[in-house]
Amino acid sequence: MKGFIFNIRTKVIVGKNSINEIPIELEKLGVKKVLLVTDKILRNNTDIIKRIEGVLQGAKKEYVIFDEVKPDSECEIVDRAYSLAKSQGVDGLLSVGGGSSIDTAKAVAILYEKGGKIKEHSGVFILQKPTIPHVSVPTTAGTGSEVSHVAVIKDEKEGRKLIYVDYYIMPSVAILDPTLTLSMPRNTTAYTGMDALTHCIESIHSTENNPVSDAFGMHGIRLIKENLPRVMENPEDISARQNMQVAALMGGAAFTNAQVGVVHAIAHSLGAIYGIPHGLANTLILPYGMRFNLPECPRYKLVAEAFGISEPDPVKAGEKAIWAVVDFIKKLGLPLTLKEVGVKKDDFPKIAELAIGDPSIISNPRFAISQEAIYEILEMAWDGKL
Ligand SMILES: [Fe+2]
Repeated sequence: MKGFIFNIRTKVIVGKNSINEIPIELEKLGVKKVLLVTDKILRNNTDIIKRIEGVLQGAKKEYVIFDEVKPDSECEIVDRAYSLAKSQGVDGLLSVGGGSSIDTAKAVAILYEKGGKIKEHSGVFILQKPTIPHVSVPTTAGTGSEVSHVAVIKDEKEGRKLIYVDYYIMPSVAILDPTLTLSMPRNTTAYTGMDALTHCIESIHSTENNPVSDAFGMHGIRLIKENLPRVMENPEDISARQNMQVAALMGGAAFTNAQVGVVHAIAHSLGAIYGIPHGLANTLILPYGMRFNLPECPRYKLVAEAFGISEPDPVKAGEKAIWAVVDFIKKLGLPLTLKEVGVKKDDFPKIAELAIGDPSIISNPRFAISQEAIYEILEMAWDGKL
């Protein structure tokens, strides 16, 4: 039996209005002046940043706002956020937003240790010791970035996504306040929820799977299956919203400790080339990645089990798990083919080249580091041939 490491260094605080805990947590971390990393939409079109500013001001906590994060964070944005933080004498980070804001703060934390430009530091296990404290406050429910050891930053000049992996970039604290996810657009709710489902499933099928991440992944699937349709039906359902935040956290912890696979590798390529939102890109590839993996993946029986399917035969169970995922995507009203979102077959070589070079592919259960393997999945996904 193989050994494993399970690392979840992030303190998690969950509950309605838990943003009130932000100053207390910053104080415990010894932070005197914090950089609030966010985007202009959250700042200008919602009351979220005003509410958080109110909490910080109420506790007389010094802060500086950086609101230039874009949907796909870019190297240049990270470098600018770091310059601002250094020039203002900031000693802690507070990310408020989706995965991009949290990943931007993680990348700024890397620069606090390494200096220079963020583009120079992409890779795995970059840091030798803990870096600047980081409190993350997600406003979506899906990326799991609030507890994960990964940051994805776009190299805008070369049109590719750079991956940063290190346990020291896991935020110090994650505050999950379901009232913050109420302002999420409907599509974002569905896409980010599907990202969480993909984390749960890929952590189970990964070659790095372990019993603890299996538990997180399987219960994450159960929560998503029950609660994402509830949120889509009634966006004001706070308890379903909170359950989705917990599911996203469980998916994040699962893949941090068991990795992902070919679905994420291709999704990252689709994001870099077409700007397809990450959760939607995962949705478009997930059933076909599972189909590709099925011959090498008796573990899809666990996915079927989490979907409430009892089937003793692992191959039949895997087959049923794939169709459960397809039915779930249909129930959410999301697309199931690449052609629907404008992906061109002429771009398959470029998509495959990026996917083959993506670190996510290494732990896929079936060998996928070849153009043929990626083409096989893309051909299925292009017109939905399962
Ligand atoms: Fe993801």
